[in-house]
Amino acid sequence: MGRTRTVSLKACAKINLGLQILGKRQDGYHDLITIFQTVDLADELTVRLQEPGLHMAADGFDVPEDENNLCIRAAGLYFEVAGKEPVATIQLTKNIPVGAGLGGGSSDAAATICALDRLLDAGVDLQAVASAVGSDVAFFLQGGTALGTGRGEQIVRSPQSAAGDVVLARPDLSISTKTAYGLLGPGSYSDGAKTRELFDRLQQGADLLDCAALLVNDFERVIEGEYPPVRRLRQQLLEAGAGVAMLCGSGSCVFGLFADATAARRCAEDLRKAGYWTYAGKMLNYLPCAAGATRKQ
Ligand code: C5P
Repeated sequence: MGRTRTVSLKACAKINLGLQILGKRQDGYHDLITIFQTVDLADELTVRLQEPGLHMAADGFDVPEDENNLCIRAAGLYFEVAGKEPVATIQLTKNIPVGAGLGGGSSDAAATICALDRLLDAGVDLQAVASAVGSDVAFFLQGGTALGTGRGEQIVRSPQSAAGDVVLARPDLSISTKTAYGLLGPGSYSDGAKTRELFDRLQQGADLLDCAALLVNDFERVIEGEYPPVRRLRQQLLEAGAGVAMLCGSGSCVFGLFADATAARRCAEDLRKAGYWTYAGKMLNYLPCAAGATRKQ
C-alpha cells in the first residue's frame, strides 16, 4: 500500500448558543463561557503532501493565502512540533463568510491540523497546537455541542447535541474579532450563570426553543450599538418567525432558530431577495476529524 498523500475534509461553521464575557485578563484576553454549536455550512479543504514548503490557494469568500491565513499558521506549527520540514499544499473553498462570527478561519485551521495528522500521524498534541493557533480552534477538533471556558479553548463536549433548523444572515459588513473585543468594557461583563444553566439543560435533552430566555450573547449590545444594520437584521429574523435570533459570536452575522425547515427556508429566501447573504441549514453533531473525510492514494 502506498502512503496516503491527500486528505479532504469539510470545515463546519459554528454559532454560539450562549456567550458571556466574565472579564478581561492580565494577558489581554477575556475569560468567557460559551456554548459552541456546529452548523452544517462548511468550507472544503484539501491538504496534499507535495512540494516542500507551505502553499495555499483559496476560492469563494476572499481570504489571505499567506501566513496571515490560520491554515498556514496551523500547518507551520504542526510541522514545527512534529520536528519535520514543512511539506503541504492547502486548497480551500470558502463558503463561510469572513469576519462574521461563524468561526470559519478557526474551523479551517482545525481541519488543517486534522488532515495533517491523518497524513503524517506524527504523535503531535492536536489540542495544544489548536489552542496556540487561536482561542476557538480547539472546539473545531470535535464539533457538536460543547461548553467553552477560559479564553474559549477549554472544551467540554455535551453527549447530547442541540438540534434544529437555523438561518444565518449577514449584514453587508464584517467585524474582526479583535475589534469586537475592543468594544467591550466592564459594563458588558456578566456572571455566566445563564450559559451554564443552558448547557445543563441541553445535556438533559431540553429543546433549545424552550430555553429561549437562557440564550444570551454579551457582544450583542455593543455590536448592535456600533453597527445598527446588525440590530435591524436580527429584528427581521424575529419578524420572519424565528423563535430566537442572536448575534453569531462577535458578529457580524446573526442567526435565527426555527421550529421547522420550511419556515427557515422561506425566511432565508426572503432575506436573500432583500439583498442579504443567507443560509438555511441545521445544527449538527459533526466531528470534522471522524466524519466526512475522504482519502486518496
Ligand atoms: O484567539 P484569537 O487569535 O482568535 O483572538 C483574536 C483576538 O480576539 C485576540 O487578539 C484578542 O484581542 C481577542 N480575544 C479576547 N479574548 C478571547 C478571545 C479573543 O480578548 N477570549
